Amino acid sequence: MLILSIETSCDETALSLIEAKGEFPHASYEIHGDALWSQIDIHAEYGGVFPAIAKREHAATIVPLLEKVMREAGKLESTYSPELYPEIEQQIRTLLEREPGLADQLLTLYKEHGRQTIDLIAVTNGPGLEPALWVGVNFARAVAILWDVVVVGINHMEGHILASLFDADRDNQLSDISFPAISLLISGGHTELIKMSDWGHYEKIGQTRDDAVGEAYDKVARLIGIPYPGGPEVAKRAEQARKAKLPPYAELPAPMLHSKDLDFSFSGLKTAVRYAVQDKELSEEQKQALCRDFEDVVTQVLVKKSCAAICEHGAKTLIVGGGVSANRYIKRTIEAKLLTDCPDVTAYFPKPGLSTDNSIMIALAGHARAKSALSPQGSDVIRANGNRSLDS
Ligand code: KG4
Ligand code: ZN
Repeated sequence: MLILSIETSCDETALSLIEAKGEFPHASYEIHGDALWSQIDIHAEYGGVFPAIAKREHAATIVPLLEKVMREAGKLESTYSPELYPEIEQQIRTLLEREPGLADQLLTLYKEHGRQTIDLIAVTNGPGLEPALWVGVNFARAVAILWDVVVVGINHMEGHILASLFDADRDNQLSDISFPAISLLISGGHTELIKMSDWGHYEKIGQTRDDAVGEAYDKVARLIGIPYPGGPEVAKRAEQARKAKLPPYAELPAPMLHSKDLDFSFSGLKTAVRYAVQDKELSEEQKQALCRDFEDVVTQVLVKKSCAAICEHGAKTLIVGGGVSANRYIKRTIEAKLLTDCPDVTAYFPKPGLSTDNSIMIALAGHARAKSALSPQGSDVIRANGNRSLDS
């Protein structure tokens, strides 16, 4: 099965062409083409992602990225001029009318190269920034009409879960996990604990009541003058503080550490960091110490709640996914804790490059969800849903 996957939920425009060999979840995946354009530099100016700009950038880059992916995959070789019926052209123009120039770009590509033979288009349709999601969804539908292929709407968080199981050292297959599994999803928009009783069966058992953990990293970064996205930079400074054994800079609260449920809260922690830096000029060492103090508290909460979820639900597997799962201190601390407290639990983290947003994860979820693919022109079409939840 040849899958074109499209991800535009936030500030990364990502497309890939992947071949699934075998049935989900035992398939191996060959990556024929993969392209990602990050808008980080553009949003850094605003200190966060600006939805209207994200949407505009997705629309401006998506056709060149499609062309790149198809070329890398050895497609787009054909030179024949396909017939384009006026009603199809009109349909594409209507579908893409909110994105100036996009229909023209796509139709030009089509007129030059014709229809490509693939089996499925998988597109993220939530959760995420709705204006950004719509670009990907409408574009997927337009390509699906031109190439006459079905489309499936993918939950971005399911993508993150599967990305953590993608194992390049095992013939690009998914790890063979045992259920129930607990998934700790930590990204810029989400912090949640999910119980998986089987593939595709999700139950949310804990979530943040306010900020997501990645959001807290980004806000702390801003407070100490580090540009967006702050996660990796805060992590780097925290590691420097650990190496130099710097003394604590601030006493920070570990929010909801002792609450009986599996929920999180990070906005109080962010406020405590704000008070710690207010009206002060911090030295580089003090900034490092503060980043370490912040990361220690975040990690303590994530570890405690994940272990509680594992115990409460008798899980044998922990899957950690989302942008913050790239954090090496969080990874080593979780692994060390499991080794001492629950040695029979196996933890899975994404390989480098698959923790933050990408389209390979959307192709994996597309393969898992291929049976629910829809015709792009049917009455029941795919819609973007910024608040799409895993368990609904
Ligand atoms: O999954 P992702 O790429 O986008 C969302 O779906 O939100 O996650 C992005 C988030 C950002 O908040 C970024 O600061 C954070 O992941 N992040 C990190 C690290 N790398 C990325 N946070 C902590 N440590 C890191 N190494
Ligand atoms: Zn994400």
